[in-house]
Amino acid sequence: MKTLGYLEIRALFLKHLEKHGHTIIPSASLVPENNPSVLFVNAGMFPLIPYLLGEPHPGGVRLANSQRSLRTIDIDEVGDATHLTTFEMLGNWSINDYFKEEALRITLSFFVDELGFDINKLSSSIFKGNDDAPKDEESIEIWKKLFKERGIDAKVGERIRELGKEDNWWEPDGGGPCGPDSETFYEVDGQLVEIGNDVFMQYLKKDGKYSPLGKHNVDFGGGLDRLAMVCQGLSSVYETDIYLPILKKVQELSKQEGIKSQRIIVDHIKAATWIIADGVVPGRTQREYILRRLIRRAIRHGKKLGIEGLFTRIIGEIAIEQFKPVHEGLEPRKKEILNILEEEEKKFNQTLEHGLKELEKLITKLNGRSFTNESGETFKIYETYGFPIEMTLEELENKGIEFDREKVERNHEKAYGEHQEKSRTASKGLFKGGMADTSEMSTKYHTATHLLLAALYSIVGPHIYQKGSNITTERLRLDFPNEEKLTDEQIQKVEDMINEQIQKGLPVTWKEMPKAEALKIVKYAAFEDKYGDIVKVYTIGSPESPFSQEVCGGPHVENTKTLGHFKIVKQENVAAGVKRIKAILE
Ligand code: SER
Repeated sequence: MKTLGYLEIRALFLKHLEKHGHTIIPSASLVPENNPSVLFVNAGMFPLIPYLLGEPHPGGVRLANSQRSLRTIDIDEVGDATHLTTFEMLGNWSINDYFKEEALRITLSFFVDELGFDINKLSSSIFKGNDDAPKDEESIEIWKKLFKERGIDAKVGERIRELGKEDNWWEPDGGGPCGPDSETFYEVDGQLVEIGNDVFMQYLKKDGKYSPLGKHNVDFGGGLDRLAMVCQGLSSVYETDIYLPILKKVQELSKQEGIKSQRIIVDHIKAATWIIADGVVPGRTQREYILRRLIRRAIRHGKKLGIEGLFTRIIGEIAIEQFKPVHEGLEPRKKEILNILEEEEKKFNQTLEHGLKELEKLITKLNGRSFTNESGETFKIYETYGFPIEMTLEELENKGIEFDREKVERNHEKAYGEHQEKSRTASKGLFKGGMADTSEMSTKYHTATHLLLAALYSIVGPHIYQKGSNITTERLRLDFPNEEKLTDEQIQKVEDMINEQIQKGLPVTWKEMPKAEALKIVKYAAFEDKYGDIVKVYTIGSPESPFSQEVCGGPHVENTKTLGHFKIVKQENVAAGVKRIKAILE
């Protein structure tokens, strides 16, 4: 096998897919666009859901990329050899184009011909069938054929394993386009490592029920970090060429051993740089909170390792250096990212001081007695001040307080369990994850946002463009630059103009064109690098005298008459010179 670097594998994959007629599309942001159902993009297919459901993609029917993704579900496992919070997923998609045979052929050829994997160590698994869908006999036959072409007699139950839904069925949390999948494995030191997954999307899961999708899509995904680990003959992703310099720096700063804590720092700080680069700042709610938790957890582990002084900037800088070739936002925002990290670190260090004071109080209260943790004090201190139990116990030990470690830990777990139960109930709705919200209502709000921008442009002035947009099924929200709040009269005019267009029943159409050409015809372009070289331009009204023209991925309604009545319900000041409008369709 060739020893390939992370970036080399990435480039080989994209070249391989290009050779097979795929358009390479850029990675979307970690923050989902106009999709309230998940906090972060968690798989390569996620930004493509509208297209997998039928919306035409400007790049055509064969697409590939390396998509940055974030999974908080695995956060507690980070620190082992293979789990990461943010990672890149190599992906290729057939949108109702090729199906199983070509997909598996492309996959196998990538591993064997491009990466030089030993065919003898490769194996696969397929879906064995259940009440919802039959056994994937076709994939068995395809795998046999593909192996045979390479001189291997592959047998079911050995090289081709038949597994159930838990292993060989893939669907986004909460439903969406889905189907049986076929995984590819590579044997490393007697262990099978999953290196890729081809999902055959023939079904749609909606309201818990499966129906035919009416299309045969393919969604391949493979974790790039894990591939690098296999290619480099390692047993941990943190030692691969892209992570090693970051790990080395953490080790250099550490005063004590602790590989798990060191990996957590590498993972969390690198994840934080990606998230900040995609426009999130640490805070108290949702995405902001996840970012804060990652940074603070890294800092706590830093303390455990005896790292002295502010260190997140040092690690962040190396992480940015390593990953700037794959995340285009890192280098230009480097200074800002590092400042945000350091600010958060300073804030947290203050909180930690308060935690130490709280601990002093506990010690005074004990008054020489031994510590039992009967009412989960260690957990409360952890919850309020971010003090991990290990640190608390260390402090107690230093102060000569006696305790039965096992009992203290048991009580800590108990308090933690009770808390988990409470927060599970509280956050059920929020973290459920799921498919892109392509429901009728959000599609309508999407089109209404275009109408709003065009009306603002014509009534308020040519300095208007979309600074931010957020759509739910209940309302649209648009941020745009303007010094003053709109007057009542302006609001009335904007509403009237939009309702007039809705009543006219204007057609909504789109055309693909090179980005340069699109830039000439649209008046306000809010797109950056998120679209490829060929873009889709949506036109509302006749192409000769359009009411609105915007670069956009869609989806949109076909005619404005379906929108109903447009009403602005709120206007806010979001930042200096930036105003926000919330509007509804009635
Ligand atoms: N969506 C599938 C996965 O995440 C394949 O890309 O594994």
